Amino acid sequence: MTVAVPNRSSRLKSAPATHTAEGTRTLAIDIGGTGLKALILDAKGGPLTDRAKVATPRPATPKAVLDALWTLIEPLGDFDRISCGFPGVVTDGVIKTAVNLHPDWKDFPLAQTFVDRTRRPARVLNDAGVQGFGVIEGRGLEMVITLGTGMGTALYIDGHYVPNIELAHHPFRGPKTYEDLVGAAAYAEVGKKRWRKRVHRVIEQILPIFNPRILYIGGGNAKHLKEKLPPQVKITSNVAGLLGGIALWNEPGLAEREKK
Ligand code: BGC
Repeated sequence: MTVAVPNRSSRLKSAPATHTAEGTRTLAIDIGGTGLKALILDAKGGPLTDRAKVATPRPATPKAVLDALWTLIEPLGDFDRISCGFPGVVTDGVIKTAVNLHPDWKDFPLAQTFVDRTRRPARVLNDAGVQGFGVIEGRGLEMVITLGTGMGTALYIDGHYVPNIELAHHPFRGPKTYEDLVGAAAYAEVGKKRWRKRVHRVIEQILPIFNPRILYIGGGNAKHLKEKLPPQVKITSNVAGLLGGIALWNEPGLAEREKK
């Protein structure tokens, strides 16, 4: 399925790739259920621009989201490649699910759309997967849970990503899923205190199943967690969602899949 993106006569399409003194410039994009964010990273993953942000348009169809994204990224300047985190299952750069966006995303070739549009290589991964790359140590089994509009899950073994683990939509209590209980809608519905208790229960449930060396909790709502957490649990900065964009290009498994 293809969706026409608006015609841009901008420099993004025509400019040659830049190899400045800082080296490769990576445009890191985070597509979220609430906001779209982007910034440019230097070769070491440090930010070269401010983080640009715009609300996710509703309905969040591919066309509406891409239109908003082009407006967001245009002022950021040129870049050599794109890394994008997407809030759903992503296989070989193609979107498989997008529970918090719009059904039209199913089978949308997002990585190829970026390539066609910008003439730059692009990699797209589940948003929690990208976020984790920004925080993990690369040793043993590390796990990431993100608490935002939805609940993201990511697993890494010695720094290698296990794609598309979707705890969010697994039943947690009766027919209610993890995301039903600790997603942003639940936070708004039951308030901070009850939401925190639920998150603690989620952590208690997850730890003995996956036994991660470290469980990182990220996403916009992680800042609301206060009570003492088990020693292997770490709250991470929300900025990691974009900083993980560099690591996507060092992951051999992803490169192999891209060549197919
Ligand atoms: C999606 C996940 C995503 C998470 C956070 C969930 O609803 O199914 O793929 O990582 O939200 O955005």
